[in-house]
Amino acid sequence: MQQHIDSYDFTGKKAIVRVDFNVPLDENFNITDDTRIRRAMPTLKKVLEKGGSLIIMSHLGRPKKVDPKFSLKHIVDHVSECLGVPVQFAEDCQKADAQAAALKPGEALLLENLRFYAEEEGKPRGLAEDVSEDEKKAAKKAVKESQKAFVKKLASYADCYINDAFGTAHRAHASTALIADYFPNDKMFGYLMEGEIAAIDNVLKNAKRPFTAIIGGSKVSSKLAVLENMLEKVDNLIIGGGMGYTFLKAQGGKIGNSLHEDDLMPQALEILAKAKEKGVKIFLSVQTVVADDFSNEANTQIVPSTEIPDGWEGMDAGPESLKIWKEVILGSKTVLWNGPVGVFEMPTFAKGTLQIAEDLAEATQQGAYTLVGGGDSVAAVTQMGYADKVSYVSTGGGAMLEALEGKDLPGIAAIRG
Ligand code: 3PG
Ligand code: MG
Repeated sequence: MQQHIDSYDFTGKKAIVRVDFNVPLDENFNITDDTRIRRAMPTLKKVLEKGGSLIIMSHLGRPKKVDPKFSLKHIVDHVSECLGVPVQFAEDCQKADAQAAALKPGEALLLENLRFYAEEEGKPRGLAEDVSEDEKKAAKKAVKESQKAFVKKLASYADCYINDAFGTAHRAHASTALIADYFPNDKMFGYLMEGEIAAIDNVLKNAKRPFTAIIGGSKVSSKLAVLENMLEKVDNLIIGGGMGYTFLKAQGGKIGNSLHEDDLMPQALEILAKAKEKGVKIFLSVQTVVADDFSNEANTQIVPSTEIPDGWEGMDAGPESLKIWKEVILGSKTVLWNGPVGVFEMPTFAKGTLQIAEDLAEATQQGAYTLVGGGDSVAAVTQMGYADKVSYVSTGGGAMLEALEGKDLPGIAAIRG
């Protein structure tokens, strides 16, 4: 049975908490964005406040073996600072028995990167490229088998399990899903996870209308499933960013050197046709800022999106597009934004994405529910200083994308049981 962190009695109990502390680090191992750490704090602090102790576990990056570059020791001091208690560190997540057993109420222990073990992901590692299918199968079976002991060891440290790692909720890994089986009556979501689930429900289940989704980013192929699911939900669909050019080209537009995926043109046309059928209004870019080079210093001009000259490529949404989109956004009661509408990493081409952030902030002020979810758009609103001016900013990239595709996330399913 699923428990709740507010009503659960943590007195004298040890909680093992899966967080997503997969934060970006610079070359000196300084954290460049600690959002994911800060957003897990309410859960971690609550357990300590209620007389429990913490065993905190996470992955960092995608190491394929023990690699000091991906050690969570780089973040221990910052986690201690945020939590307000010194956090101990277990250098091997599978050999933390003594440290976990010695934890007293109010104390916290961080386990080393779970992905130093292949068992966390449950996928074989280090196979030679020329191994046979049979050998691959055997290796897979072997790691699935050794994964059982790995999960059991993690579970043995604690009395209860909390999953607060929304960013990793789309992975069916040892620490995000399998471990829940050891705590049939003592498993629960953390507050961050609950907030993310509520945000998803606010757009996918309980959206107030009109509901507008702004889907941007560079590739149609990575957003196809999201677009298809959105057609079932929204009133308006704004399609921007690099992926928009595939739609424009599919309809016969001249897109110059702009990014596009020819093989996705039939799907793009299908989406447009389906939208028409369902009465969903589609807003492609009508005007584009083009450049003669993929560079911040390139020459630029503003042209109609379907008349991009040869040798030029679309880099950002033009003012006319932004004006139309703004009207749509401000006329909405629910707005979902996933993916930038220009090459916002280059200041010259960040204006469109900044305008969308401003429009969302204005819509929020007028009472609309606004959710920014998924990877680059989250980075954009955060960098541009709009993170606290919208209703909700997700900590999930891939996880949010899969949720928006309408998929069940293993990390959520494991707690709900
Ligand atoms: C992320 O940042 O995408 C999450 O932490 C999950 O990491 P992964 O994509 O390597 O599984
Ligand atoms: Mg990812």
